[in-house]
Amino acid sequence: MPVRICFVCLGNICRSPTAEGVMEALVAESDLTAEIEIASAGTSAWHVGQRADSRSREVARQRGIELTSLSCQFRQKDFASFDYILAMDKDNLRALASLAPNNVERAKVQLLRDFDPDSPPGSRVPDPYYGGPNGFEDVLDLCTQACRHLLLTIRKEHGF
Ligand code: 4NP
Repeated sequence: MPVRICFVCLGNICRSPTAEGVMEALVAESDLTAEIEIASAGTSAWHVGQRADSRSREVARQRGIELTSLSCQFRQKDFASFDYILAMDKDNLRALASLAPNNVERAKVQLLRDFDPDSPPGSRVPDPYYGGPNGFEDVLDLCTQACRHLLLTIRKEHGF
């Protein structure tokens, strides 16, 4: 059984599709595509069915990463499908924690940046939606840094 990861933000059009694309690239580089499955979702349904924001797609494309996912909402039944559920900020962490059907599922929910040893505990990936273009680049950098360590942690925990 592969390890299954879901990245979660509010709209599932900026931060979580970026983390998904970055993690897919890191997993492919490590030849672990059979071992690790990656998805993303939003706590809201605002953008369901939409492609990632064009600004997110552009900064990712500049680093050779295509963001191809379509926005979907994270539902209560989805907890059973994932081993790691990674929230971009505390609002989304709280939304997921209150949606979780029990403590076993709730324990799967963590902040993505808590995997990055260089980030203070509780750090968020800031929402870039209403900000300038630098916000999208920052999201890509923060996700890359955190996902590198997430991958190391998963490899250690699962022995591959
Ligand atoms: P995301 O960014 O949660 O990183 O996908 C947002 C996208 C849309 C909105 C807010 C945040 N919005 O207000 O529509």
